[in-house]
Amino acid sequence: MSASKKAAGRRAADLVETGQKVGLGTGSTVFFTLERLGERIRDEGLEIAGVPTAVDTETKAGELGIPLTTLDEIERLDVTIDGADEIDGAFAMIKGGGGALLREKGVASGSDHVVIIVGPDKVVETLGTTFDLPVEVAPFARATVDRAIRRLGGQPRLRDREGAAYRTDNGNEILDVHFAAGIDDPPAMELALDAIPGVVESGLFIDLARTLVIGHDDGTADVRSAAGS
Ligand code: 5RP
Repeated sequence: MSASKKAAGRRAADLVETGQKVGLGTGSTVFFTLERLGERIRDEGLEIAGVPTAVDTETKAGELGIPLTTLDEIERLDVTIDGADEIDGAFAMIKGGGGALLREKGVASGSDHVVIIVGPDKVVETLGTTFDLPVEVAPFARATVDRAIRRLGGQPRLRDREGAAYRTDNGNEILDVHFAAGIDDPPAMELALDAIPGVVESGLFIDLARTLVIGHDDGTADVRSAAGS
């Protein structure tokens, strides 16, 4: 499992070119990208500026010697590299397993190119069949959002950490939403969730990924492009 993540993460880091502004995603697969970028900075003199999508990523990138900047300081990112919890044939995704969906979507939206790195287990036919959909909510609105999501056919569960409600880097809560038969129309579901007052962001990422890197346990990785790219 982690061999496939390592293969995907390192392969994506090799796609980065000197001078680029790079969105740095969140999670265990991205860790291998950060590690490889750190190596390339040290060994090849690769010059990049990274925008981290989570406090955890910021800390790790700093430790690995990756120069960082913020979205306040630059207009666009050349490329973002991030993991996913599920990705389908149209490159629609569920993200947010690590709770960083809001910043991840902001950084991906501000990028000219988004590269997603996964092991083969994350590639699915129908989103929501192997992973519940994270939805970030303003804490005061949790109960009303919960009821609205049930009307859309989902079963929300408040994410917790050590007996208390989990809080994102932005101070919000997460509802992990189970859809018994998966999500048959992800773009429509994203719009429906975004329309609920109190929803800060959903973990549905539609029409953002352009390149998919699938790592394998033997250390190889396949690179696929989105249809029409
Ligand atoms: C965090 C995310 C991650 O990209 C996703 O959870 C994948 O993580 P990992 O690479 O550890 O499997 O969306 O919010």
